[in-house]
Amino acid sequence: MSSASTTTPADSGARDQTFKLWRGEKGTGEFQDFTAHVTDGMVVLDAVHQIQAEQANDLACRWNCKAGKCGSCSAEINGKPRLMCMTRLDQLPADQPVTVEPMRAFPHVKDLVTDVSWNFEVKKRIAKFNPRKPDAPDGTWRMQQLDADRVQEFRKCIECFLCQDVCHVLRDHHKHPEFIGPRFFTYSAALEMHPLDESDRVPALKNDFGLGYCNITKCCTDVCPEHIHITDNAIIPLKERVVDEFYDPVGKLVKIFSRKRGA
Ligand code: SF4
Ligand code: SF4
Ligand code: FES
Repeated sequence: MSSASTTTPADSGARDQTFKLWRGEKGTGEFQDFTAHVTDGMVVLDAVHQIQAEQANDLACRWNCKAGKCGSCSAEINGKPRLMCMTRLDQLPADQPVTVEPMRAFPHVKDLVTDVSWNFEVKKRIAKFNPRKPDAPDGTWRMQQLDADRVQEFRKCIECFLCQDVCHVLRDHHKHPEFIGPRFFTYSAALEMHPLDESDRVPALKNDFGLGYCNITKCCTDVCPEHIHITDNAIIPLKERVVDEFYDPVGKLVKIFSRKRGA
C-alpha cells in the first residue's frame, strides 16, 4: 500500500511574512513592523497570536472562538473590514506586508481592540419581539414555512459589526446618535418580518433610527462574513415599508383595514 504524501516546508508555503500591526491607545498610535513565520492554511489571527507569544506580549487583540462564530476578532486587514480568524494568509499577497488595524467606526481602546458597546446600547432602543396571542388553545401558533424561512437569513448574524464599521454614515459622517446602522436594520427586519410579531417599528426606523441616511451602497453586504443580503433583503424592504406607511395613503388604509379584519 502506498504511503500518504507528506507535506514539505516548500509545498506548505512556509515563509517569513511581514506584518504591520497598529500599536497604541485611545486613538493614538502607529504601525509597528513584525515578521512571523507562516505557512499556507494559517489565518491572520494565527500570525497575530504568534507575534503576541514571541515578540509583543502586551499586544491587545480580542478573539474567542477562532471559528468565525463569536464575532470578536473584527479588524481591518489590508484596509478592509474582516474577521482575523477567517482571513487565510494564502489569500493575501505574500510579497507585501499584511496590515492589521482596529475598526474605525468605534472608539479605540488599545492596539487592535475597539469598544463596540455602542452597538449593544442601540439594540436596547429597538422594540422587542412582540408575538400575537397563540392561534390554538394549547398555546401554539400557526405560520407559513415561507414566512419562517424569510427571517432565518437574518438570524445568522454573529454581531461582528464589520458592516457597521464599513458604513460611511458611521465611519465617515459619525452619525451614531441618529443612525443605527446596517446590523440593526437587519435586526429590525428580522422582527418586522417575523410572522408572529405585532409591533410596528417603521415610525422609529424613519424618525429616530436614520433609515433615510442609507443610500444603498451595499458596502455592508460586501463585508458580511455570514453573507447576509443586508441591503436587498433587509434595508430595501424596510424602506418600502416606510414609503407604504408614510407616503402611500391608500396602502395605509388597506393595511389598517386588513389589521382590523384580522383582529
Ligand atoms: S447600504 Fe446603507 S447601511 Fe449598508 S453600508 Fe451602504 S449606506 Fe451603510
Ligand atoms: S450583519 Fe453580517 S457584518 Fe453585520 S454584524 Fe451581522 S454578521 Fe457581522
Ligand atoms: S475569534 Fe470568533 S469570529 Fe473570530
